[in-house]
Amino acid sequence: MCGIIGCVGRADETLDVLVHGLSKLEYRGYDSAGVALADDTVSVAKRSGEIDELRALLDETTIDGAVGIGHTRWSTHGPPTDANAHPHGDCTGDVAVVHNGIIENYQSIRDELVADGHEFASDTDTEVIPHLVEDALADGAEPMAALRRAVDRLEGSYAVAAVVAGTEAVFVARNDSPLVLGLDEGSEPHDESTATGGATRATYLASDVPAFRDYTDRVVYLADGEFARLDAEGWTVTDGDGTPVEKEIDTVAWDAEETGKSGYDHFMLKEIHEQPRALRQCLRGRVDELGAAVDIEDLGDLSPTGVQFVACGTSYHAALYGAQLYRRTGIPAQTFLASEYATAPPPIGDALVVGVTQSGETADTLSALREARHRGARTMAVTNTVGSTAARECDHALYIRAGPEIGVAASKTFASQLAALNLLALGTAPVDRPREAIAGLRDLPGQVQALLDDSRASAVAEQYQDAGAYFFVGRGHQYPVALEGALKMKEITYKHAEGFAAGELKHGPLALVTDDTPVFAVVVGDGEQARKTVGNVKEVEARDAPVVAVTDGRSDVERYADEVLEIPETRPEAAAVLANVQLQLVSYYTAKGLGRSIDKPRNLAKSVTVE
Ligand code: AGP
Repeated sequence: MCGIIGCVGRADETLDVLVHGLSKLEYRGYDSAGVALADDTVSVAKRSGEIDELRALLDETTIDGAVGIGHTRWSTHGPPTDANAHPHGDCTGDVAVVHNGIIENYQSIRDELVADGHEFASDTDTEVIPHLVEDALADGAEPMAALRRAVDRLEGSYAVAAVVAGTEAVFVARNDSPLVLGLDEGSEPHDESTATGGATRATYLASDVPAFRDYTDRVVYLADGEFARLDAEGWTVTDGDGTPVEKEIDTVAWDAEETGKSGYDHFMLKEIHEQPRALRQCLRGRVDELGAAVDIEDLGDLSPTGVQFVACGTSYHAALYGAQLYRRTGIPAQTFLASEYATAPPPIGDALVVGVTQSGETADTLSALREARHRGARTMAVTNTVGSTAARECDHALYIRAGPEIGVAASKTFASQLAALNLLALGTAPVDRPREAIAGLRDLPGQVQALLDDSRASAVAEQYQDAGAYFFVGRGHQYPVALEGALKMKEITYKHAEGFAAGELKHGPLALVTDDTPVFAVVVGDGEQARKTVGNVKEVEARDAPVVAVTDGRSDVERYADEVLEIPETRPEAAAVLANVQLQLVSYYTAKGLGRSIDKPRNLAKSVTVE
């Protein structure tokens, strides 16, 4: 939800570094993009549309400055126009600010500033910040103190970076929106009061590591309430009172190449194909040598009497699946949409509240986890992002280790979430026949690879790409897969798609079924669940709907299906991962056939940091 970047210490390359970084952050929003460079003056270039629009502008405009900030926007206040693009300035033109988050009290501040004679150029909440900084500078404050005074007035969430004419530095503040520093070798902390130490090397700042991963793997995660100053001397992090904070320098565990497309047409297709590797990474070193038990240090002492899951979107579908895994062990488990958690019953006894969140920054999920802590529960983040807010705020973190996911529509991270949730259940609950369950997980990378090598999904997609709507049905572990299949189809094709528990069709949705609405039915095994789902398939077939069966071939669903997408035989919980891969491919090829913007679907952003 908006991406910001900052850079000092790259002299003539600053502009290129900023634009390159923004291209890596575009998954966070692509309504507009802009940069500001500073030395004795501040110059700004910004434009609505994707980064290429900004590049075109920069081809015909000269802007200079040794240090800079940049922004890619997902609109919250005001439409995606040039004027609403960041950076935003003050009345003097000496201050430029980029911001990710929402300023809840901006209207009253704006009214006050306007009454004092400030002139505003945009509809955004952000613009109050440079004007507040302007006032503080006019009162004689140093730039860092001026930013402190400005953010003191703000209610809401913000990751803010500012540049000020006459100071070759970037000033930073964070509250409830992610920010991470990237440190070249030689970029060292220095004491702001003495400004000693620290070689002149580049220091970066961004909403997420991919923005500067091409230059460094050394990072410092900022916490809520912290401020930072980046300059030629290095970097300083201070708390709300201005006291220096000693920060740990982490090393990022993935390579820069992982944020490229590696020859695929889209990040999403690349990420779908990365699932075997992502699954291997998730499992590596987490199962004992005999394959009989899960061995994860952080899970050792956890034996919850109940589990509540909170999550949004794709992660919510994974959470539904996670709760099923626990319920099968006899441990009560429920799943809540994070945005609805306020109405959930309080966690009972020694319950664990698990936030499933790829980014670890989803505002609704963070808010639900905070509510859970407030209610006295232990919390866990199941996340892909080391150092994310969810990982840092929860009592426990279980990393899914999928590697960076750039496509806005989640693909490999869903598979890795399902694998990690199996590990969580195996490590903390009395799972029936754990050795078989673990073997099922270990087989998955190879099975997914075989399926990717031999899928008919693109032919199926082509056949139905002009359909009026798509429905997805499944039971048990295949129900979350049906929901996820529909979400993927909606997100990247912009077509109407719905997922249903197969048994629910006849209670209403069947009225929507026609010969123009393909129904994707996930049917696994030959037991009662499969038999009932086949019954539901017959019901839609009788209404002339085309049926695509995603199946391991153990039931007789193929008799009623127009098309079959095969998956190998395995346990039902592992089959969910495999069936989902087929559905991902169908959505991908349908969207491709329709010429959609697959990696950056309209109106969406990958990380939703507003409630
Ligand atoms: C998935 O394709 C979506 N982009 C979206 O539903 C996403 O899963 C949701 O916003 C939750 O994100 P998180 O996993 O980062 O918390």
